[in-house]
Amino acid sequence: MYKKFYGLKENPFNITSDPAFFFPSMRHEEAFNHLTYGINSRKGIIVVTGEIGTGKTTLCRMLLNRLSDQVKTALILNPNFSDIQLLQMIVHDLGIDCQKKNKLDLVRAIALFLVDQSTRGRNVAVIIDECQNLNIRQLEQIRLLSNLETEKEKLLQIILVGQPELNDKLQNPTLGQLTQRVTVRYHILPLDKSEVKHYIAHRLKTAGASRRLQFTTQAIETIYAYSHGTPRVINILCDRALLGGFVRETFVIGEEIIQKCIKEIRGPKEASFTYEYHT
Ligand SMILES: Nc1ncnc2c1ncn2[C@@H]1O[C@H](COP(=O)(O)OP(=O)(O)O)[C@@H](O)[C@H]1O
Ligand SMILES: [Mg+2]
Repeated sequence: MYKKFYGLKENPFNITSDPAFFFPSMRHEEAFNHLTYGINSRKGIIVVTGEIGTGKTTLCRMLLNRLSDQVKTALILNPNFSDIQLLQMIVHDLGIDCQKKNKLDLVRAIALFLVDQSTRGRNVAVIIDECQNLNIRQLEQIRLLSNLETEKEKLLQIILVGQPELNDKLQNPTLGQLTQRVTVRYHILPLDKSEVKHYIAHRLKTAGASRRLQFTTQAIETIYAYSHGTPRVINILCDRALLGGFVRETFVIGEEIIQKCIKEIRGPKEASFTYEYHT
């Protein structure tokens, strides 16, 4: 609702992971380098972890955009289903034509596809998000898929993305064979202090903001102190702050607005802005 007031094309701080707003932070770029290295050199299984809101899903989507045409990809965003359904999703996402529904046929169809792609000089990567939610059976199924290889190379690159609990899950003794196959690992850390400023500026600019709309240095310090650099928290706070600025009819977002927004986010008892109830 503040979009018109600020002359914005879009909401700058949506909490969806829109690649158009991607900010190449040091950690995200490093994560990309690890991932592309792992995929291109056919390392088998790669594990990417990060706390909630650090940008893991954003990274997955960007990876799809950035990988060359020589890599066929499947992205499973919410693997909240059985091991057979997981196979079905992979088959579907890779565009494999397989009418059969049983496990053996699905695995066979994937294997044939992988061999065919390999003879064409193509690589195949399956990216699975929210892997901390996978159960042992699903992870075991993934291990079986990772067995598909020729004498020379791995035919399928598997990227497991999840919250840090994923690492605990992978420690389960029954998954020893899977864990041993993990060759590349990366843990995404939040943005550092100087990046928070650039991150906010980048998102504002992408949304079409003019230079008049500014967050003061103090405001940014406070945003950093509260969010510890986690993009999701920054977005939630900045979105509210723009609403606060709009209510005050100002283009300058100062520390006071940020402090009030933090109070609101922390709990209704502390809230002192009343405008939010009218939106
Ligand atoms: N590098 C980035 N550039 C732009 N926005 C980002 C970046 N990383 C995270 N975000 C934003 O932060 C929010 C949370 O990111 P998300 O990828 O959903 O985190 P996670 O999957 O780790 O919980 C999203 O709104 C997303 O757009
Ligand atoms: Mg996510």
